[in-house]
Amino acid sequence: MKPKTIRDSQVIMAHEAIPPDANPSGNVHGGTIMKLIDAAAGVVAKRHCRHNVVTVRVDNLEFLSPVYIGNLITVKTSLNYTGHTSMEVGVRVEAEDLMTGQVTLTSSSYVTMVSIDEKGRPMPVPPVIPETEEERRRYQEGKERALRRKERKGKIG
Ligand SMILES: CC(C)(COP(=O)(O)OP(=O)(O)OC[C@H]1O[C@@H](n2cnc3c(N)ncnc32)[C@H](O)[C@@H]1OP(=O)(O)O)[C@@H](O)C(=O)NCCC(=O)NCCS
Repeated sequence: MKPKTIRDSQVIMAHEAIPPDANPSGNVHGGTIMKLIDAAAGVVAKRHCRHNVVTVRVDNLEFLSPVYIGNLITVKTSLNYTGHTSMEVGVRVEAEDLMTGQVTLTSSSYVTMVSIDEKGRPMPVPPVIPETEEERRRYQEGKERALRRKERKGKIG
């Protein structure tokens, strides 16, 4: 399969938080942000493999600061690493107060997506080629995390 670059698939998705996204006090639900993370990671994975994908795992998901109705939620996503059928997508979420311009880090996490065929079976994905120093570092770290996940899965199951 022809290798692809990280630039080929990376995306930034933005959403202005509205009342249905939040609780009665105006705090945006964690689930709202999780859905945005999942959707953005899915777009990256699909752009990379040009096939249907499913989410199998989310690592490191923490909410570091509150997000409020009216904030602009920005989800920055790019592929870190590709395995045989799986892809690790790095996701950084920021919230901008549109009145003041202040930007806060909401969360950063790693989403593992798997490319599947029409019968729901995993199918191979093109390898990703990291180009910059930063991309090579993320690739190596993603590779090590994927290996640790496999070891843990082997031990548990
Ligand atoms: C994705 C799915 C098809 C994988 O099936 P499987 O029997 O585990 O397949 P495999 O063991 O061959 O694993 C396929 C790849 O997924 C990876 N993988 C499987 N489970 C994983 C997990 N829990 N965490 C991280 N990676 C995982 C494997 O490491 C492998 O990666 P590689 O091909 O790059 O080496 C299956 O787990 C599934 O359908 N899950 C439900 C997905 C879904 O519906 N998500 C939406 C939310 S419910």
